[in-house]
Amino acid sequence: MCGIVGILGHAPATPRILESLKRLEYRGYDSAGIAVHDGGELIRRRAPGKLSALEEVLSENPLSGNTGIGHTRWATHGEPTEANAHPHMTDRVAIVHNGIIENFRPLKEELLKKGASFEGETDTEVVARLLTSYLDEGLAPKDAFQKTLSRLVGAFALCVLIKGEDDLMFGAREGSPLVVGLGEGENYLGSDAMALASLSSKLIYLEEGDWAELHHDSVQVFDAAGNAVERTVTISQVAATMVDKGNHRHFMQKEIFEQPTVVAQALGRYLDPNAGKVRMPHMPFELATVPKVTLVACGTSYYAAQVARYWIEKLARVPVEVDIASEFRYREPVYADGGLAIFISQSGETADTLAALRHAKAAGQHVAAIVNVMGSTMAREADLVLPIHAGAEIGVASTKAFTCQLSVLAALAVDLAAAKGQINEEQEAAFVQELETAPKLMAQVLHNDEAIEEIARSIAPARDVLFVGRGIHFPIAMEGALKLKEISYIHAEGYAAGELKHGPIALIDENVPVIGIAPKDDLIDKTVSNLQEIMARQGKVILLSDNAEEEAEGMFARLEMPSAGELVTPILYAIPVQLLAYYAAVEKGTDVDQPRNLAKSVTVE
Ligand code: F6R
Repeated sequence: MCGIVGILGHAPATPRILESLKRLEYRGYDSAGIAVHDGGELIRRRAPGKLSALEEVLSENPLSGNTGIGHTRWATHGEPTEANAHPHMTDRVAIVHNGIIENFRPLKEELLKKGASFEGETDTEVVARLLTSYLDEGLAPKDAFQKTLSRLVGAFALCVLIKGEDDLMFGAREGSPLVVGLGEGENYLGSDAMALASLSSKLIYLEEGDWAELHHDSVQVFDAAGNAVERTVTISQVAATMVDKGNHRHFMQKEIFEQPTVVAQALGRYLDPNAGKVRMPHMPFELATVPKVTLVACGTSYYAAQVARYWIEKLARVPVEVDIASEFRYREPVYADGGLAIFISQSGETADTLAALRHAKAAGQHVAAIVNVMGSTMAREADLVLPIHAGAEIGVASTKAFTCQLSVLAALAVDLAAAKGQINEEQEAAFVQELETAPKLMAQVLHNDEAIEEIARSIAPARDVLFVGRGIHFPIAMEGALKLKEISYIHAEGYAAGELKHGPIALIDENVPVIGIAPKDDLIDKTVSNLQEIMARQGKVILLSDNAEEEAEGMFARLEMPSAGELVTPILYAIPVQLLAYYAAVEKGTDVDQPRNLAKSVTVE
């Protein structure tokens, strides 16, 4: 989603803003722009496309000035054209914005009636014109900004410069995150800690409704009612050095190959192998009395939740409901008294998941957040935070965050089972031992990289690909289909293997590859029967299995997987489906790390 950076500085702002915007590229965007204070004027440059396009514009028409704001835009209202790119300006203000102003139409009509004219189609321009109208009425900048905020409905983070006020920058947060960075005689605004990593490690995370007035030598935060408030200064852990790809061609590839290391890291925080126990952080509620678990997330994180349902219900015998966050609160869920609601999110900022978290909290549920980004809003609002320790995930397609989420959820399922008395100490120790094997087995799967690449090349020309699995591997089939869709743009679907004959089997012909996820477990015979039904209709079956005896005749390809227990197999089988998507995308020449239309941190509903 959109990235914001603002610098109220003492050194040329443009190169510093560009560097910060590069750190935000991973969020996904389709146009970019910068505006600076220069000689009493506000001047801007914008370009559709990637930052390299903006850099070209800047090399032809450079900007000077020490104070400026920059933006990478992920289009919501209006196409990704130069006219719709931020900053939006009037003769008095320059504004960058992340989020959506829901009431922009009535505001626009009101401004049009007053004689304002508009350049583009964005909701943001309405904010710029509204603020200008209040300045034109003679309000002081602070009053004009506060009055503007009071008129806005929606989710937004804003960063604002006012012409002639080169020691002033405003920021506001309502629904979309915004962070203040504190410097020496300089101050900054950014959409996350990553944006400010090269500028400051002293950060103030604005709370909902907060707005901030920045000068070179001071920062004052106000709450929604306009009261001056003190907010905690946190020290950012984000490294100032740019996260790089190492020897890998793409961040996604690097992140796939990092998985044995980061999963070991994540498990290391939750398992005590010597004692044979799971060690969760202190919980502000009694796990043993939890009557029901609600798991809510979006996209890949939602598939992690689906896997966890199987573990929790089977091991702890606690009923679990799993929901897509964007649907959750609209179906008016029935909570159990004292229930535990767990929200899973790599970014910790996904608007739908955050709204669901607040819904559960307001309903009195115990609220836990499983996140990767520790300073995130979900991490700050949950009663219990379980970090996944995956390290910065830059590729838009989530990979290592998924397997780290699964690792934490597996540990939690075992802990809950032990707390409920469903497993004894010996069984808990056995599960801990099993989980400890995950990193080594993951490394084994990664060694099979070339075989997976070869299969991926063969599916790259396909128009449709199906992924099938049963039980705990059904969500892995859906995750495989999601990965393939989002980065290779091949249409793919994940199905429960037994469901194919109820409709989707009509799609099968000799051009449709079907990836069968079939580890040797209680369900393998049934899954293989379903694969036979596909082969009987000329479907190109690609089997992922550890069952060496399984009949390979008639199969298009097979990939030998290591054997593992039920807590580890979903983590292992995530890897070949990630690599299939990755190599198919490379074969097709798509933009793997920043696939079209996608954003990393989805802060609009
Ligand atoms: C898929 C992907 C998305 C995210 C989803 C939720 O590869 O990355 O589906 O999983 O947008 O994001 P988080 O986990 O940040 O809430």
